[in-house]
Amino acid sequence: MSTNQFGRKGWTPERIGNLNGKTFVLTGTTSGTGFEAAKILLSKGAKVVMLNRNPKKSEDTMATLKQELGQEIKVSAIKMDLSSQSSVKKAAEEVLTSVDQIDALICNAAIAQVPNQVMTEDGWESQMGTNYYGNYTLQALLFPLIEKSHGRIVTVGSMGYDMGIKTIKFDDLNWDNDYTANNAYSQSKLAQIMSIYELQDRLKAAGNNNVKAYACHPGSSRTNLINTSGSFMMRMIFNLMKLSPLTQTAEKGAYPQLMCATEPDLDQTGFYGPTGRSNWVGPVGAHHIEPHAKDKEVSKRLWELSEKETGVKFEI
Ligand SMILES: NC(=O)c1ccc[n+]([C@@H]2O[C@H](COP(=O)([O-])OP(=O)(O)OC[C@H]3O[C@@H](n4cnc5c(N)ncnc54)[C@H](OP(=O)(O)O)[C@@H]3O)[C@@H](O)[C@H]2O)c1
Repeated sequence: MSTNQFGRKGWTPERIGNLNGKTFVLTGTTSGTGFEAAKILLSKGAKVVMLNRNPKKSEDTMATLKQELGQEIKVSAIKMDLSSQSSVKKAAEEVLTSVDQIDALICNAAIAQVPNQVMTEDGWESQMGTNYYGNYTLQALLFPLIEKSHGRIVTVGSMGYDMGIKTIKFDDLNWDNDYTANNAYSQSKLAQIMSIYELQDRLKAAGNNNVKAYACHPGSSRTNLINTSGSFMMRMIFNLMKLSPLTQTAEKGAYPQLMCATEPDLDQTGFYGPTGRSNWVGPVGAHHIEPHAKDKEVSKRLWELSEKETGVKFEI
């Protein structure tokens, strides 16, 4: 195992300084790692704009955060359902009109292990439509403001990138054949990570140093993820796993995204997450990523397909 650049304990939020004057836009803050990330950013003085699909849950989340951190925290919420392109576009417009700067967009929200093939209103398999196309469009539409702010795009992926078929199933992206929950989820998380490395290449080719893009994952964290969208069996397995030492708190699961959003001079080409057993738990830092996540031919094709499918392009 290589040495962790942040020491034996790995990266922790103690490294974050005062975030007064900084603005972070986070998706999926009603539970899990997103909630913990929002809480830590707010506790450091940042302004946090939460993009959630359920306004009532957003209200409750803001009330909880104010109760825990004080009424003066700078938190607000905009409704966005990542599974709907029209909702993502509307939310992005609202962000652009109500926020002056974005120091980091943290794409944390996702669904996982959906037991059956379900299609989004835009005609994509639900995990690909929500986790991948939703984020692609959000990032592209907020890109101009992130660029103006010299900000960052942070994608929360998963070690699932290395499960499933380990590539993009271009000839059957919606899994009309051979659908399995794990394969479809893994593909969507792989696509999320691949598009970050492709974005880096495109920024570099354009000589654009104004935006940094990072890929990370939370390891195996005790959150609502499987309870929200997984099958009864997956929920049983995941809830049993929560009792084992191979899982960690949601707070620790938030560290990789917080590091990617705030740590100065972090190498963009890295992949960040827990560095202990199976990369599920342990000190947070950079760790090995398998070459298929950076397969240039696949990532270029995915990017071009995303432009065509969504009708949205990054203005790099
Ligand atoms: N937990 C793990 O062990 C693990 C492992 C690998 C990767 N991850 C990744 O970590 C990230 C955070 O997940 P988590 O574990 O913290 O799960 P979580 O507790 O279920 O949180 C997911 C968040 O995403 C939101 N969300 C789901 N679908 C949405 C949609 N269509 N539009 C807007 N928001 C939506 C949820 O909102 P609602 O409250 O409305 O459902 C919730 O706020 C995800 O990207 C996940 O893939 C987690």
